[in-house]
Amino acid sequence: MEQLMRNTLLFLSKNRLANQAAKKWGLRFGASRFVAGETIDEAIKVVHNLNKNGIVATLDHLGEFVFNEAEAKESADYCIRTLDAIHQSGVNSNLSLKLTQLGLDISKDLCMENMRQILNRAKEYGNFVRIDMEDYAHNEVTMDIFKELRREYGETIGLVVQAYLYKVEEDIEDLNQFKPNLRLVKGAYKESPEVAFPNKEDVDHNFIKIIEKHLLYGNYSAIATHDEKVIEHVKKFVQEHQIPRTQFEFQMLYGIRVQMQHELAKEGYTMRVYIPYGNDWYGYFMRRLAERPANVGFVLKSMFKK
Ligand code: FDA
Repeated sequence: MEQLMRNTLLFLSKNRLANQAAKKWGLRFGASRFVAGETIDEAIKVVHNLNKNGIVATLDHLGEFVFNEAEAKESADYCIRTLDAIHQSGVNSNLSLKLTQLGLDISKDLCMENMRQILNRAKEYGNFVRIDMEDYAHNEVTMDIFKELRREYGETIGLVVQAYLYKVEEDIEDLNQFKPNLRLVKGAYKESPEVAFPNKEDVDHNFIKIIEKHLLYGNYSAIATHDEKVIEHVKKFVQEHQIPRTQFEFQMLYGIRVQMQHELAKEGYTMRVYIPYGNDWYGYFMRRLAERPANVGFVLKSMFKK
C-alpha cells in the first residue's frame, strides 16, 4: 500500500499541468513546511535564523519543467541573484541547483553557458555551487558536465551521487581523480530495477558503503540524510578512522527532523540545511511526500484548515 502511494506521488510529481497551476496558487497544502517562501527575502530570513543557531545552509531556487531558452536564462538569473543576496546579506549559505533548470533538456551548450555565468559569480564571491542529481536519464550527462566544469572551476563546484544506483560505487572511484566535494544521498526518483536497487535495505547498505569509501579517500563528504542509524554509524566511523570534522558535514532538508538538526549543530558537527524557495514548489513537495507517505495526512489536514 505504502509503495503504491509512493509511486503515485512520484508519478504526480511529474505532472506539468499541476505544476503550472501550483505556481499560481502560492504555497498551499502545507508546502510551507518544506519550502522556505516564495521570495529570496523570505528565504534569506530563514537562513539568518538558522545561522543564529549555528546551522549553515544551501539555498535552492526551485525550478522544474524548463523547456525554452528564455525560461532557462530566467532560472540562471535567479541563481545569480541568490548568490548576490547571500553575499549582500552576509548569511552563511552556498547554492544548490539542477541542470534541467538551466536548459539541459534543450541543449548541453545552453546549460554549460548558464552554469559558467553562475560559477563565475560564485567564484567572485568565494562561494560554492552544488549540482543536485536528478533522475537516471540525466545522470551521465550531469557527470560529464560536472567533470568539465570541475576542471575549469576547481573547488567552486560539487556534485551529488545517489546510493540507490548500482553504478554509484564505480562513479565514486572514477570521480576520485578530482578529489571532489560530494553530497551522498539515498536517491529520490522512481527508477527501474535495471539501474537501481528496488529494496530499501539494499539502498541503505550501499549508502553506508559509499559514505565510508568517499571518506576513506580523504574527500569532503556531505552526508545528506535524516536516517538516525546512518548518522550514528558515521559518527562512530569517523572517530575510529580519525577523520577530522573538517572533512565532512551532515545535511538535511528544511522542515525535516528539525530537532536533530539542532542537536547535531550543538554537538559541534557542521550541519547544513537545504532550503528550497520560489513559486515552483510542486514537484519538490510531491517528492518529499513520496519519501514519507504518512505526510499526506498532514496535507489533508492543511486542506481543511482556513
Ligand atoms: P529514509 O528515507 O530512510 O528516512 C529516514 C527517516 O527520516 C524516516 O524514517 C523519517 O523519519 C525521516 N524522513 C525522511 N524523509 C522524510 C520526509 N520527506 N518527511 C518526513 N520525514 C522524513 N535526492 C536526489 O535524488 N538528488 C539530490 O540531489 C538530493 N539532494 C538532497 C539534499 C539533501 C540535503 C537531502 C537531505 C536529501 C537530498 N535528496 C536528494 C533526497 C534523498 O535522496 C532522499 O530521498 C531523502 O533524503 C530521504 O532519505 P533519508 O536518507 O532521509 O532516509
